[in-house]
Amino acid sequence: MAKKIIIAIDGWSSCGKSTLAKELAKELGYLYVDSGAMYRAITLYFLRNHVDWTDKHEVKNALDAISLEFILNEKSQLGEMHLNGENVEYVIRDLVVAEKVSDVAAIKEVRKFAVNQQQQMGKKKGVIMDGRDIGTVVFPKAELKIFLTADNAVRVERRFKELFEKNPNVTIEEVKSNLEMRDYIDSHREESPLRQADDAILLDNTNLTADETTQKALKLVKKVMSSN
Ligand code: CDP
Repeated sequence: MAKKIIIAIDGWSSCGKSTLAKELAKELGYLYVDSGAMYRAITLYFLRNHVDWTDKHEVKNALDAISLEFILNEKSQLGEMHLNGENVEYVIRDLVVAEKVSDVAAIKEVRKFAVNQQQQMGKKKGVIMDGRDIGTVVFPKAELKIFLTADNAVRVERRFKELFEKNPNVTIEEVKSNLEMRDYIDSHREESPLRQADDAILLDNTNLTADETTQKALKLVKKVMSSN
């Protein structure tokens, strides 16, 4: 059997990282970890509990009270985010959470909390993780790093469709401004800013279907696996 590797997928919001990661995980029989779900769940906790995240003590106390766990959904065969035992996989996708998540994810203590757990999940390899700092900080030695990108308008359209299915009141303008705001904060923050790792492979899927993106990535996986 081929040696197990770690695949890191980073990139801008809504460029199809999780779609690609889930497909690769299915193809390879690997574990998929959505690192963004962890930052979203922490943000949900902060919002629900009125945590003042500009106050270090409040952040520390809140993190001490947070337990995050991905629990397998037997039907989809994917892990779903649980916050202190509650399944929050769907509620964390809401724009209310998306409006604040980049501020929360920029906090040093929050990143330390999440990154420690992410690194534990990668100990046995055979993992595909997507996010913003996976190839640069979480797994700098990942055997394969993909930096996914797509044109802004395409990304806005994709995310709008996804959110509109759940909530027909959502507007394309608010989705666009949320994406732009998060991309700006994520790439300009002091702690682990979003950037392409030097050894990451750039994959632009503006004109590719999800399946075509997966096929391109699978070729990269095979190349890496044959040289490992
Ligand atoms: O799905 P989308 O790409 O829009 O976002 P996500 O992966 O759910 O991540 C939500 C937010 O969490 C991002 O905008 C970042 O602020 C933060 N995040 C991060 O800082 N580091 C990661 N490894 C993953 C997400």
